[in-house]
Amino acid sequence: MAFPRLIHLLLSSALLRWPSPASASPRTEPLPLVMWHGMGDSCCNPLSMGAVKKMVEHKIPGIYVLSLEIGKTLIEDMENSFFLNVNHQVTLVCEMLAKNPQLQHGYNAMGFSQGGQFLRAVAQRCPSPPMINLISVGGQHQGVYGLPRCPGESSHICDWLRKTLNLGAYTKGVQERLVQAEYWHDPIKEDLYRNNSIFLADINQERGINETYRKNLMALKNFVMVKFLNDSVVDPVDSEWFGFYRSGQAKETIPLQNTSLYTQDRLGLKEMDKAGKLVFLAAEGDHLQFSEEWFYTNLLPFLV
Ligand SMILES: *[C@@H]1O[C@H](CO)[C@@H](O)[C@H](O)[C@H]1NC(C)=O
Ligand SMILES: *[C@@H]1O[C@H](CO)[C@@H](O)[C@H](O)[C@H]1NC(C)=O
Ligand SMILES: *[C@@H]1O[C@H](CO)[C@@H](O)[C@H](O)[C@H]1NC(C)=O
Ligand SMILES: *[C@@H]1O[C@H](CO)[C@@H](O)[C@H](O)[C@H]1NC(C)=O
Repeated sequence: MAFPRLIHLLLSSALLRWPSPASASPRTEPLPLVMWHGMGDSCCNPLSMGAVKKMVEHKIPGIYVLSLEIGKTLIEDMENSFFLNVNHQVTLVCEMLAKNPQLQHGYNAMGFSQGGQFLRAVAQRCPSPPMINLISVGGQHQGVYGLPRCPGESSHICDWLRKTLNLGAYTKGVQERLVQAEYWHDPIKEDLYRNNSIFLADINQERGINETYRKNLMALKNFVMVKFLNDSVVDPVDSEWFGFYRSGQAKETIPLQNTSLYTQDRLGLKEMDKAGKLVFLAAEGDHLQFSEEWFYTNLLPFLV
């Protein structure tokens, strides 16, 4: 957050006096909400995250909503959604959440598009403060193998982006600097992805099982995944429900339940599924296009 240094220090010292969860009186305020915006967007765009924040505040009076800003300005926030190493972004966010006194009793998280998989990384890597519900709105949990309609006012960035990804998404220089390369998932060269993806292959346990990731993800109360039925931005759309192309080709997709990630239960998703913790929601419309009514009916229940 772009807090002036003084306020920042005040917040940090306030944290030291914050009551521990055990000694605190029962919580009556609504659980806070942390949101993470998508590619080419920013924390506070009145047409996107700003509007969602308003809707939530309107329906849940008194709720604390934190829309994450990655960087010091809105422009930086937007640029970082393309160029700031995701592992660094997740570390930054973990630090912000740990320091924020308003979140210490736990929070719900809502990620939009790539913000969905980034917040899942936060859940897996940073269990404190605890995330309660994770709501992924059009997130790509098995990555993407194409960005057919990279959106927004950044079309020159998008053209360059596609070229770079096709040329060498898995080279070290590109991996470390280009956000979309870090969740680029080539189903034909699955080996290359598994060995070289510095973000997605790590959080999806492609190179081995980190029990901590498994335990932390399973601690969620609900993991809600929204898929947009008429999505023209994400390839394949099944990734929004954690499905992907069957390995070795890029035509046929398989659902999460048929992936080895699930059958071997490397991430605890099978166990969560059996426990009814995975919620698969479908929305008619293009990427991130939903009505207020749809939001209130389908997502609000996970926030109250
Ligand atoms: C597993 O994940 C935790 C949390 O991010 C990390 O601290 C630890 O180093 C990881 N372990 C391995 C073996 O990568
Ligand atoms: C991936 O790593 C494995 C194990 O280190 C190695 O055998 C394999 O050749 C690598 N494949 C590619 C395409 O880099
Ligand atoms: C959206 O996709 C669904 C499922 O594929 C389809 O039934 C529906 O007609 C589509 N709606 C629009 C507006 O294209
Ligand atoms: C998924 O697995 C089930 C059970 O093994 C099988 O019946 C189904 O055909 C598979 N679906 C796909 C798309 O592979």
